[in-house]
Parts: sequence; structure tokens; C-alpha cells
Amino acid sequence: MRILGLSAYYHDSAACLLVDGRIVAAAQEERFTRIKHDERFPAHAVAYCLREGGIDINGIDAVGFYEKPLVKFERLLQSYIASAPRGLRSFLMSMPIWLSDKLWMADNIKRDLGTGRPVLFGDHHESHAASAFYPSPFEEAAVLTIDGVGEWTTSSIAHGRGADLTMLKQTRFPHSVGLLYSAFTYYTGFKVNEGEYKVMGLAPYGEPKYVKAIRDHIIEIAGDGSIRMNLDYFEYVHGLTMTAGGFERLFGAPARTPDSPVTQREMDLARSVQEITEEVMLKMAVTAHRETGARRLCLAGGVALNCVANGRLLREGPFDDIWIQPAAGDAGGALGVAYALAHRHFGQPRVSAEQSGAWQSRTTARPGAPPAYADQMQGSLLGPSFSDEEIGAWVRHTGIQADRLACCDVAGRVATLLADGKVIGLFQGRMEFGPRALGCRSIIGDARSASMQSVLNLKIKFRESFRPFAPAVLREHVAEWFELDTESPYMLLVADVAPSRRVPPPPGSEQLWGIEKLKVPRSTIPAVTHVDDSARVQTVRRQDNPLYYDIIRAFYDLTGCPVIVNTSFNVRDEPIVCSLDDAYNCFQKTEMDVLVLEQYVITKRTAA
Ligand SMILES: [Fe+2]
Repeated sequence: MRILGLSAYYHDSAACLLVDGRIVAAAQEERFTRIKHDERFPAHAVAYCLREGGIDINGIDAVGFYEKPLVKFERLLQSYIASAPRGLRSFLMSMPIWLSDKLWMADNIKRDLGTGRPVLFGDHHESHAASAFYPSPFEEAAVLTIDGVGEWTTSSIAHGRGADLTMLKQTRFPHSVGLLYSAFTYYTGFKVNEGEYKVMGLAPYGEPKYVKAIRDHIIEIAGDGSIRMNLDYFEYVHGLTMTAGGFERLFGAPARTPDSPVTQREMDLARSVQEITEEVMLKMAVTAHRETGARRLCLAGGVALNCVANGRLLREGPFDDIWIQPAAGDAGGALGVAYALAHRHFGQPRVSAEQSGAWQSRTTARPGAPPAYADQMQGSLLGPSFSDEEIGAWVRHTGIQADRLACCDVAGRVATLLADGKVIGLFQGRMEFGPRALGCRSIIGDARSASMQSVLNLKIKFRESFRPFAPAVLREHVAEWFELDTESPYMLLVADVAPSRRVPPPPGSEQLWGIEKLKVPRSTIPAVTHVDDSARVQTVRRQDNPLYYDIIRAFYDLTGCPVIVNTSFNVRDEPIVCSLDDAYNCFQKTEMDVLVLEQYVITKRTAA
């Protein structure tokens, strides 16, 4: 059974090929078209998935689309009718695209694919739930999906067991913790659907000064985590912006414009909405636990990318184990609808890693033995890769000077360069599916370096970031360096740096403000330590990513530090690199020192 899953026409379109319940390929369209968050039909991603599967479109048994456009259209109509004549402008603005394209989605998809096969439509949150549960290692789990909005649903609780997935509860539009977060993203001057990560990174600089105001005026949070929002404060139901005038009156100022400086106010607002979000997520998790009786939790939906909240769920929530879909946003819907079709529509059986004995809970694992992390995501390394021959041909064709190392020498050479302070573009293996680079399309550096944060930001990424970079750490050493002793292969859990690795900030540093605070070393791995001593951890195992593991291992042998910096291989406003040309162009545009293409090493000195 070959199923093609698609998500498109909103944000981050993607395609996925599932063959007999196994993911053969998955990729976001933006990586091929080089347009960040490209939402158009994922023609390139589909072509890649078919190529990887060695089939053409006629070899596909079913095509799934991740949501139901007609139900979404119904929400748009009903919302407009409920608030008419307000919202006429935004209603009229959205109509042409619906009338010309979105309402005819099935025909358009068939036309774009060149297939006569029917297109089956999943429900947006059921696709998220399927993407969270089916590839997880668990035989049984509670499933929580949280995002801005799908058709009508904004969050849901489901129960997965074997091949069954039952939707139990949902919160409906316009009440949405995802849209609340996006409203604050907009109000603090960042781009909705993109800047939420910045708000989360900004939160540790602030105080939760506005929590009471938000709770008193904007959102009512019930004991079970269900919410009601006061719509007087929002415009998203019928307007063109996220927040209404009430926001300005409540917080005493207009929204920050994107080009004006970030102030303590934005930091306090970020901290406040982050706290509210964590409270809602924790309460929802308690309800999901009570409703399902399950001991494990699966998460997806854009809000599941909030790794600070996820870290709290793991520490303070009622579940023994948590698994988060790495492509938690709408790109992952392509994967989810394919899985949902396989198991729920076509009745394919599912053998979970737990059932086959390949996974054990962190609470019952033998002392000293890390639990296996045998999910179906293959490290989320589901995109294109390039063979040694292809890279050799590319090097000859371009005339670029490159050293070809023996494969056993690559890790040692890269580790030596890292220890020498070099910034390295690491391009190897299959491209990651989802928003994070996990060691195949990554820029890596020395986590011990106090200047690495500034160097990477200013010379490579061309931005000033409130967030430190993320650490990649050998799985077997994670507990010695962070207050975490579980797998975090997808960089979706935040934990504190271990107290033994922290250093007291130098005298006078408490006077510093904003980003200057981040430049003060707070640990022996300052490049990856946030101002509240937290870090967004990626644990690395050899079986998931051998060369990446070997590099960090060689760095550890050399320096005694099993932690390196991992940031995505791209510059600001560009998608992560996909091809050899993308990688080389990015390398040339920046002050990166070395580019590693599998066994080929290019340095700036020898670059053409
Ligand atoms: Fe979504």
C-alpha cells in the first residue's frame, strides 16, 4: 500500500510517501523552491518522494490531503455571518483564492499530480494526532494536539492504542491557545507563524508582570485546561490583524513595530504569555491523562514546538514518557494523513516498538541502561541525500578545490577543526523533515567558546538573536551536562544546564540588559546556555546518525566535552539548505570556515 500524504495552501506545504506503514520519504516544499514557508502545491516535494520510492504517480494507491477545505470554508463563512458587517474587508480579501483554488482542491490536486486517483481528505487535528501517535514508539498513549486553528478545532485530546486512534475532546475556534500566542507574537512586533520561537526565546529575559492582566481580561482557563477567550481583545475572527484596540488599552501602548527596538515590556509580555501557555498545556495534559488512563503522551500541532513548555510537561506533568512529532507544524500533517489513511481507512495493522520489545519506558528501564528510542521517524532524516559519486561529480563539475578524506578520518578532522574554534557547515546524510536541523544540514561549532554565540549570529546567520544556540550532546552523557536523562533527539525539550557545569556570572553582570546578558558566560558551555541557565537539548545516538555521533564523540575524546553547538544550515530568511549548490552558496555568502560534504572538506582558503 503506497500512500502519498500532502499538506499545502496555508503554511509550509509538504509531501510524504508511506509504503506499507513505513515512511520512505518526507520533505517540505520550501527546501526545493528556496521560498521560506512556501505554501503552494508541493510539486517538488512530491517529485522527490516518488523518486525516492522508485515509482511514478501511477504507482500510488491513495492520495491524502491533511485537512478538509470545505469545512474550513464553512468556518470562514459562519465567522463572517456572526460578525457581519464587521470583517467585510477581510472576508472579501480571502474570497478570490477560495473561489478560484481552495474550493476545487480535489480537482486541482489531481490536475497537479496528473492522477485520476481520488483524493481523500483528513481532518486537520486528526492528521496532527495521527502524526503524533502512529510513528511514536508507544503501544498506547494519550495524544494532545495544539495549534492556531484547523477547520474548527484548535486543540484536541485523543487516545491511541495499537492501530486505533479515537478523538475524545476538542476546543473550537475562536478559543485557541495557539492564536493567543500568535496574538502576542504580533503585539510584540514579530511575524505571526514564524516569530513564536522568538517570543519563547525572549521570555527568560522578562518578568511575568502581565499574567494577572491576561488572566483577568483575556483568557479564562478552566481546571481541565479548556479555555474561553474574550474576543473584545482580538481581531482575528473578522479583521486583518491579530489584536484589537483593547490590547493597547490593557497593556498601555500600541504593538511594537518590527523595526523598533525590543524593550523590557516585550520581554515581560513574552514571559507572561509563555507562562499562561504552559499552564494551559499542563492542565490539558492532566485532563488527557485522566480521560485516557494512558501513561504516555504524544504531542503535535504548532504549539508542540514550544520546547520550554514541553520540558515542563515532562518534569511536572502526569506522564511517564513523552514523544513529540518533530514536524509538529502543518508540514507534519502530510505524514499524519498518510498514517491515518493506512491504519484508520485501509485498516493496516500497526506493530509498535513497545509491542515488539524495541522500546522500554524510562521509568522501567534497567538502571544505567538508557531506554531505546525506537520510533518510526528514522531520526526525521527523511529527505534527499547525495552519494559519494554524486558529490565527486559535483566537485569536478564546479572545479571547487576539496580534500576527499577516507571515511574513517572525517570525524577526527572535523573534531580537530571544531576544537580549533572553526565554524563548520555539515552537510551529510538525508535532509531533516521538520523545522530543526539535526546534524545533516547543520552549522556546528565549539559549545565551550564564549564568543561562538556572537560569531555565529553576526558572521554566519546575519542576525542578533535573543536565543542562544542549541546543544547537541552524546546521549550517554546528557545527564552529566543537563538536568535531563531521557532522549531528546529532535531538540524539542528544554532543560537546565547541570549545576556542576554552571559558573557564577562575573561581578557587575547583573546590571546588564537584554542581549548583553546572553554574552556573559554562565556555564562551561556558554554558547548554548540561555540567561535562565536553560538549553534546548538534542541528544545524539550513533544508530540514528553515525557520522554526526562520531564527530561529537571525537570532539569529546579531544576535549572532554561531549557537547557541540548545532544550528540550522541557512542564513536569515532562507530555508535550510537542501542541495550541494545550496550548501556551497550559503558557505560562500557567510564567514563559515569549513564546508564538509560527506567525505569532502572545503575550506575558505582553498575555496574557488
Ligand atoms: Fe495545524
